[in-house]
Amino acid sequence: MNRRAALALPVVALPAQAQPNLAPLRQQARAFGRAFGAAIRSEILAQDADYARLFATEAEILVPEWEGKWEALQPTEGTFDLAPLRSIITAAHGHHQRVRGHALVWHNAMPEWLPRRLADGASAARAALETHFNTILPATRQAIRDWDVINEPIANAPGADNPQAGPNPLRESPWFRALGPDYIEHALRLARSLDPTLRLTLNEYGIEEATPDAEIKRNRLLALLRRLLDRGTPLDALGIQAHLQLRRPFDAQHFGRFLAEIRSMGLAIIITELDVREADQLPPDITARDNAVAQRVREFCSTATQAGCRTIITWGLTDRHSWLTQDRDVARRDNIPTRGLPFDTELRRKPMWHALAGVLSG
Ligand code: XIL
Repeated sequence: MNRRAALALPVVALPAQAQPNLAPLRQQARAFGRAFGAAIRSEILAQDADYARLFATEAEILVPEWEGKWEALQPTEGTFDLAPLRSIITAAHGHHQRVRGHALVWHNAMPEWLPRRLADGASAARAALETHFNTILPATRQAIRDWDVINEPIANAPGADNPQAGPNPLRESPWFRALGPDYIEHALRLARSLDPTLRLTLNEYGIEEATPDAEIKRNRLLALLRRLLDRGTPLDALGIQAHLQLRRPFDAQHFGRFLAEIRSMGLAIIITELDVREADQLPPDITARDNAVAQRVREFCSTATQAGCRTIITWGLTDRHSWLTQDRDVARRDNIPTRGLPFDTELRRKPMWHALAGVLSG
């Protein structure tokens, strides 16, 4: 085939293996003033050298998938264990990476003793919060300059998906029950007072797609953020988890307007936990499946970067170790492993990787 004929061929994505020379996402993002990161698990880091190498090469930011949660940090009351978190910090330093903290106030991954303590009432809850913050923030101050201080504070919309949901726009978590709606402001002020230059992030899910439930959640979140900022509460960024689902529609314009509203409040936007759950009815082959995932990632992430988001973090890097295949609540009912991350189980770049590369360097 002559050159002219070759050029006239339609543009098709080469398989990842055929493009070994493309720079890692970390470098591509950096060249455009952006950052790419991924959630990592310390026990796998210690056991799987290929996994460790992949994170060292591709990620600028590491997020502990479990090691920054209460269950990990304070398994028994008053006894702290920062060893797993430190192992991630050490790995990050070895490769000139940053670490994001996740998560200081959340209703999940609570050690067994904590809900009991919170049920003792407001002053016990305040004391538990203070002890935890007073220990963790100074101890991680050198390494972690951005924490999810508040994780998932908004209640899901009442409806078919969630018949139990009440009218309260805030999730009735053990923190909410102990301290009322002000637990959020209290935690943010405490974090600011302990570390005045720490970036304070509020992180939420279920606010990305074009469904009535997501619209209700977005509106609840906007109302919460307005109220916090009106009261002078310290808050720097909104984390958008972005556990996307192909069974739900996405509307770039609508989501873009929501992001613009967030930005107009003076908040930064971070994509904190990106991954993709595939459709219930899968396309016929792996290529078509991977292209569908990549297409959604391209649409979603380009909407975010156009709105000024500079940081994209995926919830894991490889389908080899992903909560999408390992966690019963989010795994597929047909037991087919979800292909929702940028690398496959053999650590090969997938179309999702190329979609991220395109957006981060676009
Ligand atoms: C998930 C972890 O990935 C799982 O391994 C664990 O079983 C449950 O938590 N939102 C969050 C994350 O903020 O902390 C969650 O991580 C995924 C949803």
